Amino acid sequence: MLHRALHQHNMMALIAALVLTRTAAYTSPRAPVVAGNWKMNPGTAEEALALAEALDAVEGREVVVFPPSCYLEAVARKTNKNVALGAQDACVLAESGAFTGAVSLPMLKMPRVDYVLCGHSERRSLFSDDDDAIRAKVRGALDAGFAAMLCIGETQQEYELGITDDICALQLAKALEGVTAAEMANVVVAYEPVWAIGTGLVCPATVAQRVHASMRQRLRATYDSSVADACRILYGGSASPLVIDGIMRQPDIDGVLVGGAALDAATFNQVSNFHAGWWRTRSFLKKVLHR
Ligand code: PGA
Repeated sequence: MLHRALHQHNMMALIAALVLTRTAAYTSPRAPVVAGNWKMNPGTAEEALALAEALDAVEGREVVVFPPSCYLEAVARKTNKNVALGAQDACVLAESGAFTGAVSLPMLKMPRVDYVLCGHSERRSLFSDDDDAIRAKVRGALDAGFAAMLCIGETQQEYELGITDDICALQLAKALEGVTAAEMANVVVAYEPVWAIGTGLVCPATVAQRVHASMRQRLRATYDSSVADACRILYGGSASPLVIDGIMRQPDIDGVLVGGAALDAATFNQVSNFHAGWWRTRSFLKKVLHR
């Protein structure tokens, strides 16, 4: 009797799980990335360490944080070993020398620092990083053995003019000039509409999906299907726990680059632990079947 009831219970769980998978699946075969760009925050080393210490590593997902470079070493000591680190920028003019205020790529070669962020819109607009500078940073990062997280995205005016795809395609092509298909394994692209960054205006998930699919198509045309299918393309711009599940349901969105919401560990952890059908289903099934 009990056996039959349990069997029935398990069958119901299986059906519910299948329904969930179909309605809310993270369908991409690519391992999702949840990245936090701390920008010029937090204000003190103590706060940076407290934030670092409270970050979750999530199985099957790549969690990456980009602290200011002066905190990198300490953050590496404090964070969970499965959280990856990245630098927000690097000077590629030389390895050392008379470049006041700059930090070179060899200086960033620290334990657990895997990524260099290239082409963030704040670097483009506030520090005059143009397409050539960004290409040089991508090149430099790859040559120095880092993975490059390349940001692209249109301004509000360009969005309203309906030229988003062209602008993004141009930025993508210029930044990746000379990058080989093999090197693309170490490139993550982040689509960040400038008008969505720090504004609370999130690009509708279906619009972002369309841009991501279009960028993937560009990668297919420039390289081949295997490069296009393997490349992780993240969304960035006011991403938060409120919108993450809807974003991650899109088949061409492989993660998020988070700014403001990355400065509070509990909020960022909620983003990292986003619910997607398969993960939800798997843990749900584990719970039900093993009890
Ligand atoms: P935001 O920033 O999440 O605060 O909009 C994103 C980013 O700048 O990468």
